[in-house]
Amino acid sequence: MTKINKILLLMFGIVLLVVASCQKDYNYSIPPAPPKAPPKVSDSSTTLEAYFTNTPPNTINAAYWKTANYLQVNSTTIIKNLLYGDGLLNMTGTYNGSTDFNRGGNPKLSIKAAYDNTNLYILAEWYDSTVNPSQASWLYEGDYDPLKPTEVSTGWTSQRNSDKLALAFEIANASSPAGNFSSVGCQACCHGSGNSAIMSPTSGTVDIWNWNLATSSPLGLMHDLVSTSAGLVNDAGTPIATRNVAGSTDRSGPAYEWNGTDQTVTSPAIAGGKTSLLDPAFYLMNKTPMVGSAVNGRAVYSSQGCNTCHGDNGEGGSGGGPINTMSQNKKSRSAYKAAMDNVPDMSDYWGPLSASDQDDVVTYLRGLSGVPGYVLNSSASGSTTDISVVTNVTPSNISNAMFVSTNHHSKYQVLIIRKLKTNNADDIQFDLTASKIYNFGVALMDNDGKNHVGSAKEILTFK
Ligand code: HEC
Repeated sequence: MTKINKILLLMFGIVLLVVASCQKDYNYSIPPAPPKAPPKVSDSSTTLEAYFTNTPPNTINAAYWKTANYLQVNSTTIIKNLLYGDGLLNMTGTYNGSTDFNRGGNPKLSIKAAYDNTNLYILAEWYDSTVNPSQASWLYEGDYDPLKPTEVSTGWTSQRNSDKLALAFEIANASSPAGNFSSVGCQACCHGSGNSAIMSPTSGTVDIWNWNLATSSPLGLMHDLVSTSAGLVNDAGTPIATRNVAGSTDRSGPAYEWNGTDQTVTSPAIAGGKTSLLDPAFYLMNKTPMVGSAVNGRAVYSSQGCNTCHGDNGEGGSGGGPINTMSQNKKSRSAYKAAMDNVPDMSDYWGPLSASDQDDVVTYLRGLSGVPGYVLNSSASGSTTDISVVTNVTPSNISNAMFVSTNHHSKYQVLIIRKLKTNNADDIQFDLTASKIYNFGVALMDNDGKNHVGSAKEILTFK
């Protein structure tokens, strides 16, 4: 090879190298920007900012939350003036929207977020000074509902409602007559008007996360639901709560009562794995079929003169105290009977009753206190159990929060934990390589499950 040829070959080689490296550069995709460090001082932000952290902020008091930025939600009435169907009475505490929620007080909903390699964390805090932990409890001859003047409240009816927080995320192309999710948020899964309004997009799919103080929170979970044109249903799996009903309507009465066994629940490991006892005054998990007839129990209560001391509806009188309180549910059926056996003043009234009349009376008395409307399932599983929660109102402190004083409770703190990617078809996936921005809607309910306040569209940004 001549010297010139060698030089040419060398130059050719260099050109090849440059071209190759150019091409390499050309094909090279820009690596995603590393996550930003969390803020050092808490400040308000216009979107819900999730910062990366290596230490899972899975407690309400975790250091992360003290300096995290917060989205202050301007809550307004999202939907109002809705009523439940027949037999469901006094369950619409947010009937007039914002003027009813927290008795008209601003909920001042504030939300913070974080993520680590596995999970998304969302901490929501809002003011609601009354704790409502029941849903569709069974009352016998309960109050009539002034908002439903044509409906009688004789016999069994379903009453009382819970406090709730709901989030909506778009899974795929959701739209309704109101518009697309990207423009109108969760209004994209709301259509129909008046009482026929339903949580259902005309097309597409929406993920609904619903924290419910009666039916999900005691288990350390949030209901995981999916809304499509077919309606709103639980995600796949074994549901965390089922209706406690002895028939097919909301006047059929309860199927079950507490069986007297401690109701031990353990929250999901990521939510602390704490074990606590569900208070049977509010919650039903360990169950036995409800025996006895409230109709006959009611008749015996009057004919036997129980009302002369305890009042016509168990409200209490000069001869005996109130026996219509929720705390009466803390007794199993046998303990309930034994307690009455032990009151000397009552031996002439209670003692002579036949065993079946006694059972009927206990069933009637359960209907005065209110039998939990749902049975909780501690062995729920599947996609419906994807979302864990930690709250400041727990199964262990609920009666304090409710009864010690109305000021004892001022605001809810609910920390939501979910995998970034569940890989379930009925869930939104937070795939940060595909997008760092997600639209969502947020709703609050006070003693209600239909009418709500909140904000139809907010934005979650992964930083
Ligand atoms: C002469 C008055 C009197 C009559 C009649 C009477 N009770 Fe009582 N009852 C009492 C008193 C007194 C107590 C004990 C403390 C309290 O609740 O005031 C009591 C307690 C109870 C308790 C609470 C037990 C506990 O320890 O939790 C129940 C439930 C109850 N009565 C049901 C009945 C029923 C049902 C009848 C009718 C079969 C009845 N009582 C008739 C006076 C009466």
